[in-house]
Amino acid sequence: MGSIKKIGLLTGGGDCPGLNAVIRAVAKTAINDHDIKVIGFEDGFLGTLEGKFQVLDLKAVSGILALGGTILGTSNKSNPFAVMIKKGEGFQVRDESDKVVDLCNKLELDCLICIGGDGTLSMGYKFYLKGLPVIGIPKTIDNDLSSTDVTFGFDSAVSTATDAIDRLHSTAMSHHRVMVVELMGRYAGWLTLISGIAGGGDIILIPEIPYRFGKVCEAVIKRNMEGKRFSLVIVSEGAKPVGGDIVIKRKVKDSPDTIRLGGIGNKLAMDIEKATGLESRATTLGHLQRGGSPTARDRLLATQFGYKAVELAVKKDFGKMVSLQGNNVTAVPIKDAVKQLKLVDPNCELVRMAKSVGTSFGI
Ligand code: F6P
Repeated sequence: MGSIKKIGLLTGGGDCPGLNAVIRAVAKTAINDHDIKVIGFEDGFLGTLEGKFQVLDLKAVSGILALGGTILGTSNKSNPFAVMIKKGEGFQVRDESDKVVDLCNKLELDCLICIGGDGTLSMGYKFYLKGLPVIGIPKTIDNDLSSTDVTFGFDSAVSTATDAIDRLHSTAMSHHRVMVVELMGRYAGWLTLISGIAGGGDIILIPEIPYRFGKVCEAVIKRNMEGKRFSLVIVSEGAKPVGGDIVIKRKVKDSPDTIRLGGIGNKLAMDIEKATGLESRATTLGHLQRGGSPTARDRLLATQFGYKAVELAVKKDFGKMVSLQGNNVTAVPIKDAVKQLKLVDPNCELVRMAKSVGTSFGI
């Protein structure tokens, strides 16, 4: 068993703050400590299909620690196991994963580090089963990956969302309005719950706790009657009423994840105004939550994750994902991390605590 000489890495799925910090940590640790060459595929798995990559030497990763986005580019439209080929009005699906395996072999990669969320890591796991030496690094602002306490990118998104809630608070107070703030997170309410609590949201609506519209209005009116003439409703894009449906913004045909959520914030604001007579406005934070410089915490976590991934590569401990458990960065099977999404337990202490400080969950 020879030593590792060359690592390939890619950033896949939706971007988030901290991706460049991981790229930097992988490249610097690999080059400085082990004299390993590093290449980065462009635009996630698309680069592995199209053979597009760049050498990540020390110069290439210099000055990127605090930079938002990813210098490699990313894509949430490329699944080598189901490549969508346009045919007439529709698409034909083709498995082109062998092409990726061939390229990795041709490039003599000793390890492929996949930095991504649930979609990218599921593909990474499939490549591991096909024989590629894969290691995963978990990222996502949604924080919905199992087997890690937290993903990098989440803290930065919480910070952006909390800042937005603070700003909306002051204008809500001035105008005596109901402000509805719609946050991302897909089917998990972590981002909404944590920033909702941190920003002092009066009503927090998350996918894991279906709400009753009447209860939302009751909470708003109660506050009004108590002399608090404004309310902040923090709603997750995936929240839905009891017995109702999530609001879908658009369907994306050529993406592994075909549904994009969004629109519930506007709908709620209109419905609340109609039902209570209180002037309401909606703000959808959207991709602001994914952009910008990572927080100090995310820079540190991303660096820890990148360093650990190289350690696993050197030990040839493949099929693993780096993970934060308590204060320790450790490794877990990728298989366990992608089995099911990590959702908020409706009875967890965070929810109970929020209720104790007066937050309504619309139930
Ligand atoms: O998974 C990250 C995420 O930002 C989700 O919170 C959101 O639902 C989705 O990606 C948006 O995807 P897109 O960038 O394709 O609109």
